[in-house]
Amino acid sequence: MGRLKSDLVSYIPVDEIQEMVESLGQQINQDYEGKDLVLICPLKGSILFVADLCRQIIRPVQIDFVQFLAASKSQGKNVEIRKDISTDIRGKHVLIVEEIVDTARTLSFLCEHLLRHRPASLRIVTLLDKPARRELPIKPHYVGRTIEDRYVVGYGLDSEELGRNYAEILYLKH
Ligand code: IMP
Ligand code: MG
Repeated sequence: MGRLKSDLVSYIPVDEIQEMVESLGQQINQDYEGKDLVLICPLKGSILFVADLCRQIIRPVQIDFVQFLAASKSQGKNVEIRKDISTDIRGKHVLIVEEIVDTARTLSFLCEHLLRHRPASLRIVTLLDKPARRELPIKPHYVGRTIEDRYVVGYGLDSEELGRNYAEILYLKH
């Protein structure tokens, strides 16, 4: 197995991540009172965030996953689906759960794709937002924390598939 290519610097500690997730969960509980929710999570980066966030939500939730081809990560121009949702979201309240919004290319594509299924509502929650790198005008409804233009790993986020298992969030030192 390879190694992370650069030194890592601690950035967001575990207790701060937990506070961010709790606060996002509270906002979602307030806004979706009386409504059932479908969480849609792009693989693989969102796995730890959704695992923690869904346990803060007191409403009934369904969870589904989508996956895009690796080439469609931030650098890619075209986005292609590797795994689509298998839940019927027509007339349902849908919340996309992202760990980070960067250029927003993938999210923009995902929103258009999901809207074709005519959900009752569609919103985005992201743990981290990197607006400095935005290429498309997507504004998440719920943001845990806005960060500078840094490449971060940990808590589901990877560098060439490594680092997802770190409990804290770190950035790569160039
Ligand atoms: P987009 O550029 O907003 O389309 O981001 C696509 C995906 O790239 C994100 O959902 C993450 O999975 C990944 N990504 C973007 N920035 C970072 C980062 O700093 N660390 C790890 N993954 C990232
Ligand atoms: Mg992602």
